[in-house]
Amino acid sequence: MAKTTATLAELGRRADAGDDGAMYALIDVAAELGVDPDDYKTWTALASFAESRPKAKAPRRRAKAAPAIRTQGLSKSYGDTKALVSLDLEVPKTEVLGYLGPNGAGKTTTIRLLLGLIKPTAGRSEIFGIDTQRDPVAAHKHTAFVPGEVSLWPSLTGAETLHLLGRIHGEVDIAYRDELVERFDLDPSKKVRAYSKGNRQKLILIASLMTRADLLLLDEPTAGLDPLMERTFRECVGEAKERGQTVFLSSHILSEVEALCDRIAILRAGELVEVGTLEQMRHLTALQVEAQLDGTVPDLSRIPGVHGFEVHGKTVRCQVTGPMEPLLRALAKAGVHHMTSREPSLEELFLAHYGGSDAHP
Ligand SMILES: Nc1ncnc2c1ncn2[C@@H]1O[C@H](COP(=O)(O)OP(=O)(O)OP(=O)(O)O)[C@@H](O)[C@H]1O
Ligand SMILES: [Mg+2]
Repeated sequence: MAKTTATLAELGRRADAGDDGAMYALIDVAAELGVDPDDYKTWTALASFAESRPKAKAPRRRAKAAPAIRTQGLSKSYGDTKALVSLDLEVPKTEVLGYLGPNGAGKTTTIRLLLGLIKPTAGRSEIFGIDTQRDPVAAHKHTAFVPGEVSLWPSLTGAETLHLLGRIHGEVDIAYRDELVERFDLDPSKKVRAYSKGNRQKLILIASLMTRADLLLLDEPTAGLDPLMERTFRECVGEAKERGQTVFLSSHILSEVEALCDRIAILRAGELVEVGTLEQMRHLTALQVEAQLDGTVPDLSRIPGVHGFEVHGKTVRCQVTGPMEPLLRALAKAGVHHMTSREPSLEELFLAHYGGSDAHP
């Protein structure tokens, strides 16, 4: 405890002396506590407030009935940029939700809004029934967070960082923390500045998992991890789910989402374009058709339900939604040598939503 007190106080002193790293660390601390750093004359004053902050009791009864996450019309604009457009999303307790989207889709914005770190332009969000704008401190008691861009304190060791982050969150399963350090093969005696990117990511993952928080908000959590560590991460998410924790996982890595998540939400240009189980999504989407023709490939662009078609010599590939008959009739005219059709992989589903030739925003 004495060590933690010294650490926060020391951060205050260093920030007042112009150390940017210490200043950013305290901005993070302020965000965790739901206070505005501008309300404090000095960084030392903020550090001392953070140290004295009494721990809020989580409102357990209210938390039981509500879903883990509920957003209604949640929106965020930066000038003309619509980072998030009227998001309505509900994540029941114990669900692992994969939140997929390309760069700039609004994943990080959603997570920051859920944490009350930024103010929505419109709409609202709740974590276990707690309004995240009105009562971010109470909401944070239920939540652990892995930010997409990790800014840690370079001069602290891994162990000191875990200690400080644990102090900020308030609850730590010490035995589990030590087990995680082993499983992620992290040397906690090293200074953070000496860690590789992957090791910094492991540190922040351990810091979130060790809290056993009811809700884990993980923004691209496996960025920088090697495949072995990715597997360890997957196991940890599985364990969290078994314990009744809820996991909100933003990702670009489709296999990760496929392996881990109960449902998948797909975000594109700030809009939720799809949400459902993988099974549901497969039914919603097109069949992949590949045909080798005897004659010249006809123009398929006007055939209803056909999109994303590519031609390579006499081979044509396309996706079909709805009845196959119009496509079959068009292909039959050219003479079909060989044809296959199958359900799309998650990769193809993903691309059909925002990566394909006809799918740009
Ligand atoms: N502070 C900000 N000021 C201005 N624009 C912002 C700000 N933060 C985000 N944006 C914009 O909002 C949109 C959504 O960004 P966001 O970071 O949420 O995307 P993302 O899905 O997390 O992307 P990535 O996969 O690259 O992490 C982008 O167009 C981004 O440029
Ligand atoms: Mg992001």
